[in-house]
Amino acid sequence: EKGLYPHYMLKEIDEQPAVMRTLIQEYVTPTGESTIPVEIVSEMAESDRIYVVGCGTSWHAGLVGKKMLEELTQIPVEVHLASEMGYDMPILSKKPFFIFLTQSGETADSRQVLVKINEMKLPSLTITNVKGSTLSREATHTLLLHAGPEIAVASTKAYTSQISVMLFLAKALGEKLGQEKAKGLDIVHELGIVAAAMESLVDDKDHYSELSQSFLNETRNAFYIGRGLDYAVSLEGALKLKEISYIQAEGFAAGELKHGTIALIEKGTPVVALISNKEMGSHTRGNIKEVESRGAKSLVIALEGLEKETDAIVLPHVHELVTPLVTVIPLQLLAYYASLQRDLDVDKPRNLAKSVTVE
Ligand code: F6R
Repeated sequence: EKGLYPHYMLKEIDEQPAVMRTLIQEYVTPTGESTIPVEIVSEMAESDRIYVVGCGTSWHAGLVGKKMLEELTQIPVEVHLASEMGYDMPILSKKPFFIFLTQSGETADSRQVLVKINEMKLPSLTITNVKGSTLSREATHTLLLHAGPEIAVASTKAYTSQISVMLFLAKALGEKLGQEKAKGLDIVHELGIVAAAMESLVDDKDHYSELSQSFLNETRNAFYIGRGLDYAVSLEGALKLKEISYIQAEGFAAGELKHGTIALIEKGTPVVALISNKEMGSHTRGNIKEVESRGAKSLVIALEGLEKETDAIVLPHVHELVTPLVTVIPLQLLAYYASLQRDLDVDKPRNLAKSVTVE
């Protein structure tokens, strides 16, 4: 029930801080122990490579998960598009472990891969919001997103929940493997900070409504740029905008634009830039200058401590591994208001379905 909300998407964006707090309760005991079943962690600890599989927004969450898993476990991670992997299987490592990211648990493209993996008798984990869903039943293990029902076609809280569950998993696995970084990470503390940061952002909706009006009004296209985790979130921000506002948007690795796509920049082209990492951010600043000198108008979203006076949005500071959980919030809100201001059907965009059960 969307209650007083005009749309499910807005309600689901608003629910994200609460989902963070629910996940802390579900995945950590009051004494600070992980609740992730030992069978999952032990099986993963045996693996020499983790393969993360998903589509769309779930694939984007996988790109973030790769960074967290590699950082905290030192096991190499590959992220694959299910629709490609199903028919074009890469050479697998000796001891692969598969993670299926699927909010619905019913995505046909992802299931294709799982069916193949099962034929090869390889271990797998489905991370899903739907208990008893097909991919949950058919995988070796399941972890739940605990995000509550997500009704809007454009995924918001399932994305941030997927990232968080992968963080809990990465920490538990890293600890099992004796990794100091994993031991040193206080997830409850860091996600508590994230929840508060998310709250302050969703409480500031008028700002995003105005920014969308001034920045995205009348445009037919937009670019999102960033490096590292900011690149992964740029892809997600662009997808959100495309899906519900029908503005053609692309997410780019900030340094890659100049290798071709910068030809599309003209006077007034909107470029959203994410800066959440000090070192990479200074390079992204250089890329912002490049597009601005070709006429683009930029909207910079920077983490507190890395901001400049002209930046449109300054986000509360959070731990470097969890920045996607806050950088994505302004992008969700911008997409929401761009759709609303164009009088479109926010929750049910054309040509799309909530769960994609055809290949
Ligand atoms: C976009 C979106 C889709 C899904 C994709 C996979 O907002 O929701 O890109 O992420 O169709 O769906 P699941 O996660 O259910 O496998």
